[in-house]
Amino acid sequence: MNIIVVKDYNEMSYQAAQLIAEQITKKRNSVLGLATGSTPEGMYKELINLNQEDKVDFSEVITFNLDEYYGLSPENPQSYCFFMWNKFFKHVNIKKENIHLLNGITENVNKECKQYEDLIKKSDRIDLQVLGIGDNGHIGFNEPDISLNTQTHLVNLTTKTIKANSRFFNNVQEIPKQAITMGIGTIMRARKIILLANGKRKARVIERTINSPITTKVPASVLQLHNDVTIIADQEAASKFIS
Ligand code: F6R
Repeated sequence: MNIIVVKDYNEMSYQAAQLIAEQITKKRNSVLGLATGSTPEGMYKELINLNQEDKVDFSEVITFNLDEYYGLSPENPQSYCFFMWNKFFKHVNIKKENIHLLNGITENVNKECKQYEDLIKKSDRIDLQVLGIGDNGHIGFNEPDISLNTQTHLVNLTTKTIKANSRFFNNVQEIPKQAITMGIGTIMRARKIILLANGKRKARVIERTINSPITTKVPASVLQLHNDVTIIADQEAASKFIS
């Protein structure tokens, strides 16, 4: 694992955007795997700036998002589809037909998962997958104790994840209890992975991701088996790892 420790959130966002821009410069039709949540918001802002300054061109880029809450429609402001359009896609020159998002209100969840996985395979492979990390070590919504070779599938969210996500919802009834997510197997097939983490809250899980024996109790620890992973952590998130 390549570990880059940066000063703060802004520096993490800047470095991540630079890596993505480099990837697109090398291959105009790169396939990107994208994450949502608080962590990558700054990275998307940096990428929007780079696009507006003509330093990165998304016109050939293809994207697949990692996950979506099951039961939330694309118009729901808490859905990851809504997040992606508002915080990123509508601000850059990406083609609508090149954007892939999971449908949280699909009537046939197994079919949705299979189609998504097939589309990823059809696009060859994800060139660069961006990940955040949950306090419990989840990547995508692959919660602890998950099987390691999963494809895109429906998961039950843990109480810890539901609690962590409750900050975005008005009341507990509104918080989805399930999600559709790329599996660990899907993520591990990406050619290159960057995992972002910031803040003290992530310090323990970053330490375990890097140092603990590979365990399904910390799904991100599986990334130790991948041959091209870069973790970009700010000083707070890296504090337990470097001390
Ligand atoms: C989001 C995702 C999740 C988040 C994780 C961290 O698409 O896949 O794994 O990356 O829950 O969320 P934040 O960034 O809000 O701390």
